[in-house]
Amino acid sequence: MCGITGYTGINQAGPILLEGLRRLEYRGYDSAGIAIQSEKSAETENGSAPASSIKMLKATGKVSHLVEKFEAEPDFKGVCGIGHTRWATHGIPSDTNAHPHLSADGKFAVVHNGIIENFAEIRAELQKYGIEFKSETDTEVIVQLLAYNYKGNFKKALMKTIARLTGSYAIGVISDEYPGTIFAAKQASPLIIGVGIGENYFASDITALVSNTKNVIDLDDGEVAEITPDEVKVFDHTGKEIDKEIRHINWDIASAEKSGYEHFMMKEIMEQPQALKATIEPRIKCETLNCGDTDLSIVFDEIKGLDMKKFNRVHITACGSAYHAGCVGRSIIESLCKIQVEAEVASELRYRDPVMDDKTLVIVISQSGETADTIAAMKECKYKGATVLAIVNVVGSSIAKLADHCIYTWAGPEIAVATTKGYTTQVAVLAMFAVWAAGELKTISHGAYTSLILDIMHLPERAQRALDLNTKVKKMADKYYDNQSLFFIGRNMDYAVALEGSLKLKEISYLHSEAYAAGELKHGTIALIEPGRLVVALCCYEKLFEKTVSNIQQVKARGAEVLAVAHEGNRSIFQEADDVLLVPQTDALLVPVIEIIPLQLFAYYVAKKNGCDIDKPKNLAKSVTVE
Ligand code: G6P
Repeated sequence: MCGITGYTGINQAGPILLEGLRRLEYRGYDSAGIAIQSEKSAETENGSAPASSIKMLKATGKVSHLVEKFEAEPDFKGVCGIGHTRWATHGIPSDTNAHPHLSADGKFAVVHNGIIENFAEIRAELQKYGIEFKSETDTEVIVQLLAYNYKGNFKKALMKTIARLTGSYAIGVISDEYPGTIFAAKQASPLIIGVGIGENYFASDITALVSNTKNVIDLDDGEVAEITPDEVKVFDHTGKEIDKEIRHINWDIASAEKSGYEHFMMKEIMEQPQALKATIEPRIKCETLNCGDTDLSIVFDEIKGLDMKKFNRVHITACGSAYHAGCVGRSIIESLCKIQVEAEVASELRYRDPVMDDKTLVIVISQSGETADTIAAMKECKYKGATVLAIVNVVGSSIAKLADHCIYTWAGPEIAVATTKGYTTQVAVLAMFAVWAAGELKTISHGAYTSLILDIMHLPERAQRALDLNTKVKKMADKYYDNQSLFFIGRNMDYAVALEGSLKLKEISYLHSEAYAAGELKHGTIALIEPGRLVVALCCYEKLFEKTVSNIQQVKARGAEVLAVAHEGNRSIFQEADDVLLVPQTDALLVPVIEIIPLQLFAYYVAKKNGCDIDKPKNLAKSVTVE
C-alpha cells in the first residue's frame, strides 16, 4: 500500500526513481510523484537563486502520467531524490495529495507509506504556530513537524519527529541543505536499503531495486538510516550507530519483468509449476533403505524446534487469498492431525478477544509478510501466549521476523495484485506441514504418509497439465464474459476453492461474483438464480460429488448455465453441466492446488475480454499495510 523509493549517487535520479516507481506500482496507483535535489546551477525564471533546491513533479493516476510530465521537463535534473506511488487513505487522489510533501519553508520533502494515527493532533498543534497545510494527507504532518523541529541538525530533527509519531510509517526524506543525503526511517511498514557502488537506494521492496543492486540492508522498526552515495549509516532509536548485515538477494531481474507476457498475472499463473517445485522439492527427503526400498519424508529444517505435541488446537489467520489458503489448510490439518483447527480473517480475529493460550498454535499466512491486519492479529495471539508459525513468501518481511517460526513459500516475486502462485504455494506448504505434523503426532499411517508425499511431489507436473486448459478456458471466458452476476459453488475443499475462484474473478473483472457452500445456496441465494446466470460448480472433491450434482440440478432447474470443474475420468459430469473443464486427478486433500488453476485463467480472460486493467485492478493494492 503505497510504494516509496529513493536514490543518491552519480547518475540522474529522475529515470531511476521513475523505474523504481513503475516496479512498485502494484502497491498503489492513484497518483505518483518525485522530489529531487536540483543541481545548484538551477535558477528561478527571473535569474535569482532558487528559494529551494528541491524540485517536485506529481501526477494524478498511474506512474506513466508522471513519466510523461517528466519527459516534458528536460531541466528536471539532480542526482539525489525520492519517489512515491500512492494508494489513497487520507484525501482524494489528486496532485495536491500526491507525495512527496514539502515543508512550508520548502527545505524538506518526504515520501511516506503507512498511516500516522495521531496526525490530526500534530496538525492542529502546528497550525497554532501558523504553519499552513496544503494537503489533506496524514503524511504532511511529518514534514511540517520535521521543519519545525529542525535547529541545524537533520538527524536530530528527524529522530525527534518520529518519536512523536504513532501508527505506521516507512519514510524517505531529503533536505535542500544536505545535498546527496537521504534519511529513511521505519515503523511497521516495509523499507529496505539497496547498497551499490558509489550510489545507494531505498525502497519499499526489492522489486524496485533488483535491476540496480542485489545487496540490501533490512531496516528494522525504530531504526533510522542516513544514506549518501558512498555510505549507509544506521542508527537505533536512541541515535546510536549500529552494525547491520548486508543481505544478498537471489531474485533475478527476470522475476520482476513480464518476460514477454502481456500481464504479470499471466506470467505468474504460468510460473506455478516452477514455484511449486521450488517450494516442495527442498522439503522432501528420499532415502534408499538397505532393502532397496525408498523412504520418503517431509523435512522442515526451519521448524525443527516446533513441538506439535504441545498444542491442543490450531488457529489459522490471514487476509484475502491467504485466508482462502487457510480455509484449505484447516481441512487438511484437521483431517490428518485430528486436532481442532479454526480459520478466521485477521481483521476479525484481532478484535475478537479469541480464547487461546500456550497450547495454541497460530498459523499466519501472508504472501507479502506485511499485511497490517495479519500483523496485528499475530501480535494479539502472541500476547495471549500462542506460538506463531508464519507461512510467508517475502524473505525478511515483518511477519517473517515477528513469528516464532517461519516457513517460506519459494514462489519468487509476485507483482500482479491478484495473487496466483502465492496462493498455490501457500496451500502446498500447508499440505506439507499437515503431513509433517501428522507424522510427528503419529495420526497418520505410514502408507497414507508416503502416498500423500508422492501426490505432493506430483503437484508441479499436475499444475502444468492444468495449465494446458488455457485455450479451452479462454473459450469459456469468451462465452460467459458478459454475465453480470456469477456464483461459485462447491463442498468441503471445493468450497474453499470456490471462495478463491470467486475473489479472483471479482477483483480483476469487477463482475459481481459470490461463492457459496453448495448446500447453502437453497437457503436464500437461490432466489437470485434466473435464466442465463452462470454457476461455476466445483466438483473435484469426489466424496461429495453426488451432493454437488443435486445442487447443480437445482440451479439448472431455475435456468442457470453451469460450468463445472471436475477430475479427469469423471464422465458423469458431462450429463449435468453445460460446459466442463477437467483437471488432473490428485489426492482429495490437495485438490485446491490444481482446481484453482482454470479459475485463475477464467478470471484473467474474462477481465481481459472486459477490457480491465488486469495487473492493477481499480481500488486495490497488493500489499495492504493499512487497517
Ligand atoms: C491484498 C491482495 C490479495 C492478498 C491479500 C493478503 O488484498 O490483493 O491478493 O491475498 O492482500 O495479502 P498477503 O500479502 O498478506 O498475502
